[in-house]
Amino acid sequence: RQHDSHTPHRASIQVVAHRGASEDAPEHTLAAYMKAIEDGADALECDVRLTADGHLVCVHDRRVNRTSNGRGAVSALELSALSALDFGSWKDSEESPDWGDPSFTSVLTLERLLELVADAGRRVELAIETKHPTRWAGQVEERLLHLLKRFGLAEAPPRGETSPVRIMSFSARSLHRVAAAAPDIPTVYLMQFLSPRLRDGRLPAGARIAGPGMRIVRNHPGYIDRLHAAGHQVHVWTVNEPEDVELCASLGVEAIITNRPKQVLHQLGRL
Ligand code: G3P
Ligand code: CA
Repeated sequence: RQHDSHTPHRASIQVVAHRGASEDAPEHTLAAYMKAIEDGADALECDVRLTADGHLVCVHDRRVNRTSNGRGAVSALELSALSALDFGSWKDSEESPDWGDPSFTSVLTLERLLELVADAGRRVELAIETKHPTRWAGQVEERLLHLLKRFGLAEAPPRGETSPVRIMSFSARSLHRVAAAAPDIPTVYLMQFLSPRLRDGRLPAGARIAGPGMRIVRNHPGYIDRLHAAGHQVHVWTVNEPEDVELCASLGVEAIITNRPKQVLHQLGRL
């Protein structure tokens, strides 16, 4: 199934800002997510980890070393210690010497991100990824679902509408836990490689949507058809190059996860 470049499908592809507008602003900060909302992204992607004192924060790496002026594992630091760190300066450049109010580049709790989305003034969806959840034996999912419930985001959407939040993971076990505890929240199974047991297009139990990496899409374009034939939507990451956006559009994927939401929206004819 090929979609030509003028099909209405292009305009309906959801554009998801990966770690916020992370090409332009420091990933996983308010600065990056505010920019993504301003740029017109349909959804925001974030990774979540538990701090030593049980708060969910948006940080990709196990350690804070790459994206802050601190050192150490997120899981070994309390939220108060993380809050003293600067998650913006590593991204400073001549064009962007600072990121505004210091709170825009302090550690971002998932709770603060949910508030930002609630106050966006338009529908902005959230794609939340659980990182290394096996280590915590269910605590990441438990706290995540508790928080989503508080924001009224874990219940079934009204008839004819879709959920504004979904949970993604490379861990099938994590998705299985989510599906069992909150069956109305869509789950996305992330795949870095196409293992033989997945080639027929079926996903592990508890996974609703397929999340193949761009490398899989380039090397196995026919796989997208098999996923669609098996009834799964396809959300591809991380799609930054114009030719990859074109390939995804021609294959009819439902969502493109990108560090450059503005450029992708423009390429898809949305801006
Ligand atoms: O959106 C999925 C993608 O973010 C998975 O890879 O390493 O960027 O979390 P990673
Ligand atoms: Ca991620």
